[in-house]
Amino acid sequence: MQKKIILTGDRPTGKLHLGHYVGSLQNRVKLQNDYEQFILIADLQALTDNAENPEILGKNIIEVALDYLAVGIDPKISTIFLQSQIRELTELTFYFLNLVTVARLQRNPTVKTEIKQKNFGTSIPVGFFVYPISQAADITLFKANLVPVGEDQLPMIEQANEIVRKFNSLYKPVFTQAQALVPKDAGRLPGIDGQAKMGKSLGNAIYLSDDADTLNKKIMSMFTDPTHLRVEDPGKIEGNTVFTYLDYFAPDKKIVQEMKEHYQKGGLGDVKVKKYLNEILQEILNPIRERREHYSKDLDFVKNIIKSGTQKAQERADKTMQEVRQAMKLDYF
Ligand code: TRP
Repeated sequence: MQKKIILTGDRPTGKLHLGHYVGSLQNRVKLQNDYEQFILIADLQALTDNAENPEILGKNIIEVALDYLAVGIDPKISTIFLQSQIRELTELTFYFLNLVTVARLQRNPTVKTEIKQKNFGTSIPVGFFVYPISQAADITLFKANLVPVGEDQLPMIEQANEIVRKFNSLYKPVFTQAQALVPKDAGRLPGIDGQAKMGKSLGNAIYLSDDADTLNKKIMSMFTDPTHLRVEDPGKIEGNTVFTYLDYFAPDKKIVQEMKEHYQKGGLGDVKVKKYLNEILQEILNPIRERREHYSKDLDFVKNIIKSGTQKAQERADKTMQEVRQAMKLDYF
C-alpha cells in the first residue's frame, strides 16, 4: 500500500528552538516511519522578510538541517530539501495567485499578526503578503495528506485547502486536501520571559543547540511568579513559566503535582523548581547536542543530504506539474 504523504518545513532564519521541538519536530520524528515525509527548508519564504540580507540564509540552511538531524530526523527515510531549488514551486505559486483575493489574504490571522510584529506599517512587501499562497504550493505540489506544524500555522493549511478546492473545481481534481497536525495537549510553549510565544526575534528562546551552561542560565532567569518573593510565601502556578515547562517536559507528572501543591502552599523556592527543570531539559537536550556535534564535523555530508533530498523532491515536483499544466490546458505543444 502507498504510504500517505507528509510535507512540512521551517524558514531558515536561525537555529530551531524548544518551541519547534514540542510544536512539530517531535511529531516528524515519530511519524517518519509511517509516512513518506518531505521536509522543506523554506529559504524563499524566509526571503520575503529578509530581502535586505539574503546572506543569512546560506548559513541558516545548514543550521536548520543540523537541527533536523540532531533531533532524529533520519535522512534515509525522510527527504530534506531546499525550497528555492524546486522551480516548480514558484511556477505553481504564480498560478495559485489568481485563485486568491487580496481580501482573503488580509484576513489570514497569522499574516496579520506577523505584519504587526514586523512593523511593516503600510510598507508590506508584496512577496511577504502572498507567502501563504507560496506555502499552499509547497503543501499541494507534494500532494501532502498531513502537515505537522505549530499551532500558528493552522490558518496556512486552511488557506491551502481553499486553494485546492478552487483549483480542483475550476480545472481538474489534481490536488489533495491536507490535514494539519498540531500536538494534542499543547497550546504553544511560552518564551522564558513568560510571553505567549517563543521566538528568535523575541529573544526569549531556548535553542536545541544551547550548551549546558547557557541552558542552565536561561532556566535560572525564567519568569515565575513575581509576587513570590520569599520561599515561605505562597506562589502561583498559573502563568508561571517554570511550571508550564514542567507540564510539557517532566516525565513524572506526580512529582510535578506535588511540587505545585507545595509551591502554592508556600515553602518551595523558585531555585529548587528551576533546578529540577534544568535536570530534565539537560537530559532531553544531551543526546540532541551529541548528534549535532557529530554531524557538524562533516558538513559535506549534511550538504549532500540536502542535495540528494532536493533531487528526489524534484522528481515529485515534475510529475505533479505535468498534471497541473494539463489540467489548466497549458500544455500547448
Ligand atoms: N511557514 C513555516 C514557518 O514559518 C514554514 C513553511 C513553509 C511550511 N512552507 C511550509 C510549513 C509548508 C509547513 C508546510 O516556519
